[in-house]
Amino acid sequence: MINTLVRPADINDHQQLSNLIFFETRLHRHLDWRSPLEWLGAPFYWALDEGGRITAALACPAETVGIAWVRLFVYAGHGSAQDAWHVLWPTAEYEIARAGGATVVAIAMQPWFQTLLAANRFVNRQQIVMLEWHGFASQPWVAREAEGIRVRKMMESDLPPVERTDAASFDPLWQNPLGTLQRAFSQSLFATVAEDTQGIIVGYQITTGGGQRAHLARLAVHPAVQGRGVGKALLSDLFRMLAQQGPSRLTVNTQNDNLTSLNLYRKMGFVRTGEHYPVYTLEVPAGV
Ligand SMILES: CC(C)(COP(=O)(O)OP(=O)(O)OC[C@H]1O[C@@H](n2cnc3c(N)ncnc32)[C@H](O)[C@@H]1OP(=O)(O)O)[C@@H](O)C(=O)NCCC(=O)NCCS
Repeated sequence: MINTLVRPADINDHQQLSNLIFFETRLHRHLDWRSPLEWLGAPFYWALDEGGRITAALACPAETVGIAWVRLFVYAGHGSAQDAWHVLWPTAEYEIARAGGATVVAIAMQPWFQTLLAANRFVNRQQIVMLEWHGFASQPWVAREAEGIRVRKMMESDLPPVERTDAASFDPLWQNPLGTLQRAFSQSLFATVAEDTQGIIVGYQITTGGGQRAHLARLAVHPAVQGRGVGKALLSDLFRMLAQQGPSRLTVNTQNDNLTSLNLYRKMGFVRTGEHYPVYTLEVPAGV
């Protein structure tokens, strides 16, 4: 008889998990600054081990206290999503509860994963919508300034105040801690900050990309100065750099209920592409 157990995945599972992720089509992988393998060794990462062979894995490490994104769910194609989930999830739920509870969140990019979450008490909380900028035709782009605000290139040493701006601006679900912002910065194509006359950072944007494509991955303005044109200034400076340096396609994602950002993007010439993905959440209360 094959010995089947759910156990924490660790760094020794790297090769097996890497094969599972590479070969299996039943894969949910979070849009993340880290690959799922880079999370190995973090808490809340489990493997289904069937006689030494990993046939499924679930990872929801909590990067921000109380928020656990489902960063990986994968299972061998001969099984069913429900079966794999029903084996892995009870351990996950028990351990998350024991560690103080969390909001477990996932962006369901694929219909099978959406069906799975909906069938397992997750609630569709909002949608992620994609927009595309169509302003390249209006070159040369003239950057728009906000009074008393200077937009400049981000430096590594800006990251601690950038993190504070991020934490003050975003709902906890969407906040990025320092380590994640460091990764985002290191993978960026253009990263800028907006600072006031005293040199205090009040906003930032991070854009990734290469070749003809760019993606505005983060944009935030501190609530104390929102509504004064800082967001517009950061965006128009980004457009100016893009117009000078190449990429002809700029996309951005936001939440369908984030009306402030939708207004800003619409005003700045973005249009919705029609692509959207549901965000599912499940509250796991603290327990023993
Ligand atoms: C979205 C955000 C970056 C906008 O920055 P901002 O500096 O306040 O924006 P601006 O002052 O440049 O305003 C630009 C437009 O946004 C819209 N806007 C700004 N504040 C708004 C509000 N409270 N309600 C509705 N629309 C608003 C308006 O259309 C405004 O244009 P207008 O002044 O001509 O009417 C900022 O609100 C923020 O950081 N929000 C939290 C983080 C976030 O949601 N980021 C984007 C997610 S992808």
